[in-house]
Amino acid sequence: MQDTKKGLEDVLALDTSICSIDGRQGILKYRGIEVERLEQMSYDAVSYLLIYGKIPDKKELDDYSKKLRSERYISSDILNVLNVCNYGSEALDSLRTAVCCSAHMDTEKDDSSMEANMSKSIRLVAKFPTLVASVHRYKTGQLPIAPDENLSHGANFLYMLKGKVPTELEADAIEKDFILSAEHELNPSTFSLRITASTMADIYSAVITGLCTLKGPLHGGARKGVMNMLDEVSNSENAEKYVLDKLLHRQKVMGFGHRVYKTCDPRAKLFKDIARQLADEQGNSHWYDVAENLEHTMYREFMATKGKPIFPNVDFYSAVVYKYLDIPPELATSVFATGRVSGWVSHYFEQYANNRVIRPRANYI
Ligand code: ACO
Repeated sequence: MQDTKKGLEDVLALDTSICSIDGRQGILKYRGIEVERLEQMSYDAVSYLLIYGKIPDKKELDDYSKKLRSERYISSDILNVLNVCNYGSEALDSLRTAVCCSAHMDTEKDDSSMEANMSKSIRLVAKFPTLVASVHRYKTGQLPIAPDENLSHGANFLYMLKGKVPTELEADAIEKDFILSAEHELNPSTFSLRITASTMADIYSAVITGLCTLKGPLHGGARKGVMNMLDEVSNSENAEKYVLDKLLHRQKVMGFGHRVYKTCDPRAKLFKDIARQLADEQGNSHWYDVAENLEHTMYREFMATKGKPIFPNVDFYSAVVYKYLDIPPELATSVFATGRVSGWVSHYFEQYANNRVIRPRANYI
């Protein structure tokens, strides 16, 4: 047997045409298009691109957006479940339960044809924002708000969350958050989803696997970790001490480092820019300044102690954006999942289309 690769580092596990990452240059593309260009599109267009493999023309996009908007609603049964499972558990746990119940209630649950799977994917992409917003409303003692079909995917999410239509910049920020969070090759949650898909399990089971894996603090849970860290650091003068204490105790600082990127994560740069714009609009650079001080201290300390830099990853400045959008830390991983779901379902289709069960070996010791 060959040597094992701890954490499967650099192992090429499968072929994909959904996403490519150049970790040395810091280039990320979905379906061959750089994220810097994708960010200028709507989330509807990007999720279409991921799922169908092409940029939609005007009619295709109109039809797809119309379908997504009409599928935003969730049933009173699901709302009851969300209300009942409001035990102070993390929002992601409630979201996962809601997706499980949606699977039970889906009239096409036993149909694994391409058409049925496509309808189920569209329902998942369309309903995730409503589920996450409703989880938040119940957890904060408020009633859920029905979707508004006149608003974009992102703007409607913020509207259902807070009960007021967001500013243009806020709507743009959350739309970009969903786009930049939508896809990232064989990250842990997508890989786990592909394993489930490779057993020919249904699409809901695969998405639930992805959700469970996303939760961990070394993966999507880091976004919540960064938000908690920003609260704990509280002002930019404390940032240096916070980092030095963490490193002294050999603890991870959330939102830094990446298995694949050897340079700055391109999404971190884009999120930093969005955070700056929100700080300017609100005339409050507080969270941005705290984050920048953390970033500079991490860079300096890694250069000094390891002779190489460490950069923020996708979770770092996205957490700062959430601060400005007044999204609470407990909701951060679920909001991440709301963007990621279109990437997940795309990988489900790709795995299904050319499947072999994923079953590696272990080295017995
Ligand atoms: N803070 C402090 N030190 C770090 C950090 C960090 N955030 N990240 C890496 N390091 C150090 C490690 O301690 C290790 O040092 P050593 O060689 O002296 O032991 C070295 O850098 C390599 O780190 P690993 O954890 O071995 O790197 P790996 O590729 O296995 O893990 C990961 C990557 C999980 C992202 C890691 O950098 C980390 O834990 N970061 C913090 C959590 C986080 O932000 N996760 C989100 C990632 S993006 C996403 O999944 C959506």
